[in-house]
Amino acid sequence: TNVLSVASECVPLVKTGGLADVAGALPGAMAGLGHDMRTLLPGYPAVRAAVDRDAAVLDLGQVFGGPARVLRGALGKQVLYVLDAPHLFDRPGSIYLGPDGTDWPDNPERFAALSDTAARIGAEGIEGWQPEILHLHDWQAGLAPVYLQQRGAAGRVATLLTIHNIAFQGLAPATRLDRLGLPEDGFTPSGFEYYGRISALKAGLVYADGLSTVSSTYADELTTQEFGMGLDGVLRDRQAALTGILNGIDLGVWTPPYRAPRGKAKHTRALRAEIGLPDSDGPLFVVISRLTEQKGLDLLIDALPDLVSAGGQLALLGSGDAAMEKAFRDAATRHAGVAVRIGYDEDLARKLIAGGDVILVPSRFEPCGLTQLYGLRFGTLPLVSLTGGLADTVIPASPAGLAAGVATGFQFHPVTAQALRRALQSVFALWPERKIWEGMMRNAMAHPVGWDQSARDYAALYESLKKTP
Ligand code: ADP
Ligand code: GLC
Repeated sequence: TNVLSVASECVPLVKTGGLADVAGALPGAMAGLGHDMRTLLPGYPAVRAAVDRDAAVLDLGQVFGGPARVLRGALGKQVLYVLDAPHLFDRPGSIYLGPDGTDWPDNPERFAALSDTAARIGAEGIEGWQPEILHLHDWQAGLAPVYLQQRGAAGRVATLLTIHNIAFQGLAPATRLDRLGLPEDGFTPSGFEYYGRISALKAGLVYADGLSTVSSTYADELTTQEFGMGLDGVLRDRQAALTGILNGIDLGVWTPPYRAPRGKAKHTRALRAEIGLPDSDGPLFVVISRLTEQKGLDLLIDALPDLVSAGGQLALLGSGDAAMEKAFRDAATRHAGVAVRIGYDEDLARKLIAGGDVILVPSRFEPCGLTQLYGLRFGTLPLVSLTGGLADTVIPASPAGLAAGVATGFQFHPVTAQALRRALQSVFALWPERKIWEGMMRNAMAHPVGWDQSARDYAALYESLKKTP
């Protein structure tokens, strides 16, 4: 199947979160099954730097007040298309936010341009290559099914929208309808209107042929008021079209430098030395995360005194919310057993996963989550809240899980500091039981976290959506 994957970020070129990892890994995984998945990305500076400026394969003329074209490059062994429109994407700093820390005011236009380019490639093909499926990621690609319909190609080319995070909905004022070239009759509550505004995500949810998200549990959660973030009604209407397919991780990139549980100790010692934690016989907890409300790390701040007094240590790497950054920095000055690095650091992230004993992911909601998967792969036992993809990937050390010898981590519910404290107690209770702990590490390291099964699931989904014979 020919699939055009349309995303706003993609490793190794540009990343703010897990979407980039997924967009970066999926084309290679699909190629392994014989599919030709090509990727369309905005031409941010980092993306343009990776392609030849003379590699234009499609001239788009004027788009929102400036010249635009599509360049051809490579993403590993697969084809990359870059929407080169300097007036929209050639900006320093964050890909979504201006220097004042709020959304770029023309984000609706920037990602409408991405979506319409996808629709145009769907309608006309590119370089003689015709996609059968547009695989759209999150709100940034959400308008593509509407544009595809306008271009008269919705009957030939199928669209799949994958929801990575429903918290971001791509809202724009109604006054931009015209400028975005959207049909006025779609601006209703049953179309892409969201309480008086245009919602790019809702457009995708309503108009795409198929919908998916990144775990089965989150697919169910999305249809509830608690998790649907105002779009649960739309998702209930489209429940028959919505499936959950778990993310994988790139096993080539995420390979532990040890095979047996005991090989970890050396890396734990090195990690303690590097981040300035004293030697200890207790468990070393690690966190690698955006510091936002979603991730529930305020609960960890509450539970931290218990963690430390029970003999545990914490090493945290993250950035985001300023108040939370400060709270963790303060905790690090109060407790010798807490080390905090504010920032983004791939190399340190790897060392934390390799050296940690437990990886904490106490999210309030988590569509899939990738760091608990890294933890499984490295025998760094995940301690997670019971939600979304966390619920689908970790087998808890409950009496039943332990008796059956299948446990891979720890889970808590509800998402409160008190429940987190109880889960920490079970970590400390099991930690001295080295046989059981090492058994859990072995289970975790053997748990399948690659793309094999999920790539097959996407292939089957594409097949079911295809419109061309
Ligand atoms: P989300 O996409 O919601 O942020 P995921 O768990 O799906 O959550 O993906 C987050 C990705 O970003 C992971 O690959 C994680 O290792 C990485 N990451 C998050 N924060 C940092 C950081 N401060 N430094 C390095 N990598 C980070
Ligand atoms: C989102 C979600 C995260 C998921 C990632 C990739 O950022 O928050 O749970 O793993 O997308 O799908």
